[in-house]
Amino acid sequence: MRSSPKNMNADSSVKTADKRKEAEAAVCVGREDDIKQSRRITASVNDREIVVFYHEEKFYAMDCRCYHAGGPLHLGEIEDIGGHLCIICPWHMYKITLATGEGLYQAINPTEPSAAPKWRSKGVKQRTHEVTVDNGSVYVTLSDLSVSLDSDYYAEKYKKFGSSFRKK
Ligand code: FES
Repeated sequence: MRSSPKNMNADSSVKTADKRKEAEAAVCVGREDDIKQSRRITASVNDREIVVFYHEEKFYAMDCRCYHAGGPLHLGEIEDIGGHLCIICPWHMYKITLATGEGLYQAINPTEPSAAPKWRSKGVKQRTHEVTVDNGSVYVTLSDLSVSLDSDYYAEKYKKFGSSFRKK
């Protein structure tokens, strides 16, 4: 039997709701002890490549591919930039806050007498995700994908190419 346009709309809204439910589900990405020891892991959560960092006794998760040009954030260094913990993208050294995914840049206010550069935010550029720990396992719940962010482009692009992290 063929679906009428009305049924097709119903089908697609069911699929959209299913996808939303899937995105909202917490996915186990590994054992707490293992991630604390390795300090970072990559994982696929509902087909999205993410990186989980463990730094200064806290977990953070974000899209693995940098919002600027898709650089591999799991290979970056973590530094304190102007009081914010940031991952430094290894490709062009963009600074992204671990907690919020904001891109930081240095700016000078020419009207200030000292004109010392200060770190400013470009706003949220990299999608971060929620990390929970339960009974020795670490879970990641994807953030609300209905609000688009710059890193979504590279998350989709690398999804199409297949995981760049899976072993062959
Ligand atoms: Fe990350 Fe350019 S790709 S800074």
